[in-house]
Amino acid sequence: MLDKSHSVLVGLQWGDEGKAKIIDYLGSEFDVVARFNGGANAGHTSRATVNGKELEFVFHLLPSGALHEGTHCALGNGMVIDPLALEKEVKSLESHGIEIRSRLHISSQAHLVLPHHKERDKKQESGRKGKSLGTTLRGIGPAYEDKIRRVGLRMEELCDSQKFQETLLEIEDFQLDRELLKKYVNFAEQYGAYIKDVSELLRSFHEKGQKILFEGAQASFLDIDQGTYPYVSSSNSVAGGACTGCGVGPGLIGDVIGVAKSYLTRVGAGPFPTELTNENASLENRQLGEQLRERGREYGATTGRPRRTGWLDLVMLRRALWVNGITTLALTKLDVLDHLPRIPVCVGYKLDGVESNRLPMGSEALNRVEPVYAYLQGWECCTEGISRFEDLPENAAKYIQFLEERIGVAIKIISTSPHRDHTIFRESM
Ligand code: IMO
Ligand code: MG
Repeated sequence: MLDKSHSVLVGLQWGDEGKAKIIDYLGSEFDVVARFNGGANAGHTSRATVNGKELEFVFHLLPSGALHEGTHCALGNGMVIDPLALEKEVKSLESHGIEIRSRLHISSQAHLVLPHHKERDKKQESGRKGKSLGTTLRGIGPAYEDKIRRVGLRMEELCDSQKFQETLLEIEDFQLDRELLKKYVNFAEQYGAYIKDVSELLRSFHEKGQKILFEGAQASFLDIDQGTYPYVSSSNSVAGGACTGCGVGPGLIGDVIGVAKSYLTRVGAGPFPTELTNENASLENRQLGEQLRERGREYGATTGRPRRTGWLDLVMLRRALWVNGITTLALTKLDVLDHLPRIPVCVGYKLDGVESNRLPMGSEALNRVEPVYAYLQGWECCTEGISRFEDLPENAAKYIQFLEERIGVAIKIISTSPHRDHTIFRESM
């Protein structure tokens, strides 16, 4: 289906675009799936049939490719890893009879998330008073702070469990009781064998002609550099992050797959021009926003928070296509729009009386823009489960074509439900 070399998959909005569903759909094409950024702030929901039973897994640290039997799973150096959260995830897979340890690889250069990082995350958030970022409180920002300050602890520390124990005891603000200390030492003893040089490991897969998929967590507008700063996460979640976050050069990457949802959501604070669920929204808009939330099951997979919802924003999407260099575009959750008689799509912004289809500079300006909408006719019938483009209702096909004309990129993959088979793949695009 895809280019012969390795691929990167990233989210094009503020996360929760349905990346895991697309990875699951394409999963059998790849021998290795490698996460390159973020930590347990991610929540990737994947469905699978295991021993004849339909199961739903939420991945936080393991790549969602883990559900494909035999696929190798790598955690790259760009990640920040909470050892106990990883252990929990591995055990949860094992409790469903899914073997993972023989195909688990953890970068020795990935940084550790420890309890003091979570504490600091909490303190920093409450210290921001009315201006909190709405982080996931998983210690992500503080762990990256330590990495950039060059005082962080890396996975390599765990290779010697005795020395690791001494290091833990030396950390000043790390109040560890004996029980907790034992858990970390146990982890080091059990998982030391999976810690390796992931860059070299990927080289050996590459040399054997095996295909790698680099799985992005978070998304383009949560990227520390390209996102809506400071309302972002602390890693590079755009496609370029795959190279620094796994130790591979850009020339090794073929396809860059971008995933966008048919509408928009955001968890946590920050600008959101097309939002329907904000405080000042009209009653009608708020109801439309709540419908999207209910129909799309838009509740955080990591924190359970209700997601803010709004209309698809093509100004943002065009920007994301550019900063990632997208070659293959996937549009998810088309079926969530089935009930709408009329579908607004944001095609430009008005700022201080001037209309533009470019993002303004900075979050303050983005907060002030007024979206300019095009209104498309809805299809008002069920598209759930459709897997051939020809079977889409006429107005749904027109909606897709409208988006393609506006963004100048073909939509090759369209998802019409969380199920693997409910996916339209347009070979000729
Ligand atoms: P996936 O990979 C949606 C958001 C948080 C917060 C901001 C910073 O499932 O799409 P952090 O804890 O990272 O310091 O929080 O980023 N955030 C996400 N929102 N999906 C995610 O991941 C997210 N990971 C972080 O809500 O606004
Ligand atoms: Mg998520």
